[in-house]
Amino acid sequence: MKQFTQAEQKRLAGEYAVDILISRGMIFSGMKIGLGTGSTAIQAVYRLAESLKADKLRNIQAVVTSFQTHMACEELGIPVFSLNSRNIGGVLDLTIDGADEIDPENRLIKGGGGALLREKIAAYNSKIFVILADESKLVPHLGSRFPLPVEIIEDARVPVIRALEHLGASCVIREGVKKAGPVITDNGNMILDCLWKTPVDAAALEQEINAVPGVAENGFFTRLRPLVFAARGDGSIEER
Ligand code: 5RP
Repeated sequence: MKQFTQAEQKRLAGEYAVDILISRGMIFSGMKIGLGTGSTAIQAVYRLAESLKADKLRNIQAVVTSFQTHMACEELGIPVFSLNSRNIGGVLDLTIDGADEIDPENRLIKGGGGALLREKIAAYNSKIFVILADESKLVPHLGSRFPLPVEIIEDARVPVIRALEHLGASCVIREGVKKAGPVITDNGNMILDCLWKTPVDAAALEQEINAVPGVAENGFFTRLRPLVFAARGDGSIEER
């Protein structure tokens, strides 16, 4: 039997989810849609553009979560608005995104692409939150493999690292590729990648980390239960 690569699984999840959500009326003409970031979320953006071209969808109004997605929308002719604009009014009908880890209760770690701050703003201001994934993202416990990204204000780097170490984390400043020094996010901040030795209470930590002065946001997404579409290696899609 054909085995689908990780890249193929991401494409399958993106295409399947957009098609099925259009057929269910959850993605609809004129809607306000939040668009996530990364190699999986972009597959949904491509499918939305195809659906607009095929006239299955009209006049969607997008709020993007990164320069990457903004540039893709510009290229594909998807109109982009600020979450604060009159058109959007701070509320999205649905946000579609990828994830780095998904536990059995659909709690997430996000931020592998460094877009967690805007991704969380979009997700937490959406009526419906949809996550797309390949099977490698399904894990029994959050934080078992993927370090938690925490976006921080540079001026507070030393006290924030100290506070996170107090919470049991080992922190590494994310380094740029083809850029000397740290990754600087689309919001002008730095990212710490944080690992715990033992399983953690993600819901409690989501709150505790954000209470540290100098933390802009962390990559635990525990207060929503997104609809997840995960593509498997055999080409099947699990919806949960
Ligand atoms: C970006 C994210 C991404 O959704 C997450 O890192 C998954 O990325 P990919 O779809 O490329 O595997 O949270 O900040």
